[in-house]
Formats: sequence, C-alpha cells, structure tokens
Amino acid sequence: MPVASGIKDRELTAERLLAASAKNSFDPLKDIDWDAPLLPDTYFINEKRCTLYGTRTWARMSPAQRVDLTRHEVASTASVGIWFEVILMQLLIRHAYDQDMTSRHIQYAFTEIADECRHSTMFGRMIEKFEAPNYGPGRYAHELGRAMKTIGFGIQTFAAALIAEEILDSAQREMMQDETIQPLVRDVSRIHVIEEARHVRYAREEVVRRSPRLNRAELEFSRLVIARSAHVIAHHLIHPNVYAAVGLDPKLARREALANPYRDETMRAWARRLVAFFEETNLMGGPGLLLWRRSGLVPRDYRPPVAPAR
Ligand SMILES: [Fe+2]
Ligand SMILES: [Fe+2]
Repeated sequence: MPVASGIKDRELTAERLLAASAKNSFDPLKDIDWDAPLLPDTYFINEKRCTLYGTRTWARMSPAQRVDLTRHEVASTASVGIWFEVILMQLLIRHAYDQDMTSRHIQYAFTEIADECRHSTMFGRMIEKFEAPNYGPGRYAHELGRAMKTIGFGIQTFAAALIAEEILDSAQREMMQDETIQPLVRDVSRIHVIEEARHVRYAREEVVRRSPRLNRAELEFSRLVIARSAHVIAHHLIHPNVYAAVGLDPKLARREALANPYRDETMRAWARRLVAFFEETNLMGGPGLLLWRRSGLVPRDYRPPVAPAR
C-alpha cells in the first residue's frame, strides 16, 4: 500500500472510531452498580473455564471452594488486564510522541488511552469488590513488561496490544452472555467488549499497514517479540496464589492446571482469532514458534500455513 493512501486510510479509520467512541462510551464508576451485593453460590466465570475444571483436584473440591477459585481466577485475570493496559498506555503515549498530534490517528490514540484509564479503574474496583488481592503477573513478567513498555515500538506496540485484547475479548464475549455467572462480571465484560472492539480494529489495521513494510530482520525480530509477549501473557493470567487462597497447594495445582486438557482447549479457543490474524499478516514464524507452542495458545505440534510470497 503506498504511504500516502495508507495515511489517508488511517485517518478515515480513526475518524470513524472517534465517532463511535463519542456515541458509545461508558463511565464504569457511574454505569455499574457497585453497591449491588454479589450473588451467593454463583460462579464468577463458567466452571468449564476454570483452570482446574475436570482435574482430580476439582473432583475433590467442595462446591464452595470451586466458586471461590473462580472468584480468585477472575480477579487474577483482571489484575493482569490492568498490568497490560498500563503497558499499552505507555506504548501509545510513546507512539504519539513522534507523530502529528493534530491527526485523527493520534486523537484516537488519546481516546483509547482514556478508555484504558477507565477500564483499569473498573477492573480495580471489581477486584476490590471480590475482596481479592492485586495478584498481578508476578515479578518476572512485571520486569519484562517494564522493558516492553520502555523500548517496544512500531508494529510491536499494536501486535502486543492485540494479544491481550483479543484473548480477553474472546473470554469476555462468553462471559457477558453467560446468565449463570455473577451479574457484575457480565456487566464489566460487556463494557469492556464494546470499547475494546474499537481498539482491536485500530491495532489490527495498523498491523496490516505495517507488516508488509518490514524488512527481513525487522520481521524476524518482531515475530520473536510477539511470540515472547504471547507466551508471557498466557502463562501469567492466573497467579499461582489463587490456589493457595482456596486452600490448595499452589505448586501442585498449577502443575495440574498446566497439564489440564480442558485448560488447553480454553486457551486455544480464546486465542483462535488472534492466531488466525497473525497467520494472515505473516507474523507467525521463526524461532518464536517454540514459544507459541509452549504458550498453550496453539497445539503442541502447531505449524503456520505457508506464508504468501513477499
Ligand atoms: Fe481495556
Ligand atoms: Fe484496549
């Protein structure tokens, strides 16, 4: 795509996204009833999506313990969501720093950052309401995130955004429609899905514009950074302390969760759209494939389809 038409096209997309944001945005502090009590004996995420569902430990757990584990797992995922949104906000601010601040493209970047500020506040409130700790991704991922938000640039910004946004989006689309889970989780998911659909479009189009312009070295480096980001995010959504919080041995439970075929199925289902997009944009390949296979987001014997000639 010629650069001039790429920029025009980018401005048109941003214009549409700004109009959609003006029409349909939320203030979670006002739009969610934070005083409504949580429902008793009600899962926080569908039990089939719990990391231990179907395992031997799950069979031994009491119904109350199972519900409690879903409470902690949703809290852990939300805290990792905040961690990731903070990284993304900094990546977007750094992206804006070098661009024309009067462009629609950058005005939409500012709008997205504002959305993320509200989302992180919303997730924080939800964790507080669940009386759960701020699990976060753990120290190692926290430090990798510090490096990413400080030096990540270009296509990496938008591809990394998509990894977290698409996985969470697939999970939350299920949650917002699930009548069997806590209404608060449904409400939070609905707001996030509506606003994130715009972020996904913004990031996808930027990846489509940028990927054909990468030279061989940039392509290989970007593939590796993207694979590493996917691996870190997938492995740290659930903090091992969620198991300790419900009286289980965290090391044993985590091992069981990582070997759980139901868990594999969940992760692959949530990553399907993301992986298909990275295949289309030639971003699956090289040594990073090993990390993808280990992430649980693709089958262990995964191979990308043959890339189109460049
Ligand atoms: Fe968000
Ligand atoms: Fe987002």
